[in-house]
Amino acid sequence: MRCDFSGRVALVTGATGEIGAGVAAALLDQGATVWAVDLRPPPRVPGVAAERERFVQADITDAGAVADLVARIAAEDGGPDLVVNAAGGPGSVRTPVDEVRDEDWARVVALNLDAAFYVCREATRALKRQRRPGSIVNISSGAGRTYSRTGVQAYASAKAGVIGLTRQLARELGPFGIRVNCVAPGLIRTNGTRDELARLPEERLREHLSGVALGRLGEADELVDPILFFLDDGARYVTGQTVSVDGGAVMLG
Ligand SMILES: NC(=O)c1ccc[n+]([C@@H]2O[C@H](COP(=O)([O-])OP(=O)(O)OC[C@H]3O[C@@H](n4cnc5c(N)ncnc54)[C@H](O)[C@@H]3O)[C@@H](O)[C@H]2O)c1
Repeated sequence: MRCDFSGRVALVTGATGEIGAGVAAALLDQGATVWAVDLRPPPRVPGVAAERERFVQADITDAGAVADLVARIAAEDGGPDLVVNAAGGPGSVRTPVDEVRDEDWARVVALNLDAAFYVCREATRALKRQRRPGSIVNISSGAGRTYSRTGVQAYASAKAGVIGLTRQLARELGPFGIRVNCVAPGLIRTNGTRDELARLPEERLREHLSGVALGRLGEADELVDPILFFLDDGARYVTGQTVSVDGGAVMLG
């Protein structure tokens, strides 16, 4: 998808992960200044956009670190007026609910819901101060729209929360010209899922794919254009929406 993000300032969390990295690269390619944030440094790919690329190693479950980060972006580049909350992950899978430990529940909710809230809040503060419009895209999951077969109680709850947060902020921030939308991926082949997929017996994978209308797993780059669509001004009358990018899995039920 070709957009023109020249002059725009983007913040992408989880930018070393495959989905976040794909979005960050596309935004750079299409003219934005991109602040990529992750716990892990990205692989270095020298390119023409390097002067518009900034990487910050930060833990976005730390509200203070997110406030510092957004204050730095606002001071150095203005904005951020394009925000993608791609950091996240399910944590441990297949734990029966009666064996879930408090600390594991809290860790997964902190990463998948609290951190998205911190980033939305700080970006909103910066945008309101600068009286600028903006576009935020949160990332939920099929687990947040329906449920997951993998027994991820905290993840499914947090990702459902992300959809609620998206709608609530869209309502509140509409008058300020700040749009908030959400993408809910199905099972996508990334570093985050590679181990789980490798352990999945052939039969379980076949069963999963029988519930996907397109009959295959997704690839990380297939998330990029749906996210760019929401970020782009072409979607200027679209807010509060969650789109499944899942090959038709939620649709089949
Ligand atoms: N891959 C899938 O099948 C799938 C399905 C549904 C939803 N999602 C969601 O899509 C998003 C991206 O997933 P992915 O598969 O690319 O995952 P990934 O594991 O490849 O990338 C996630 C990135 O987030 C970073 N991260 C983790 N904790 C962090 C923290 N505290 N602070 C800063 N960065 C942190 C990780 O270092 C990693 O680079 C996540 O929100 C995930 O829940 C993925």
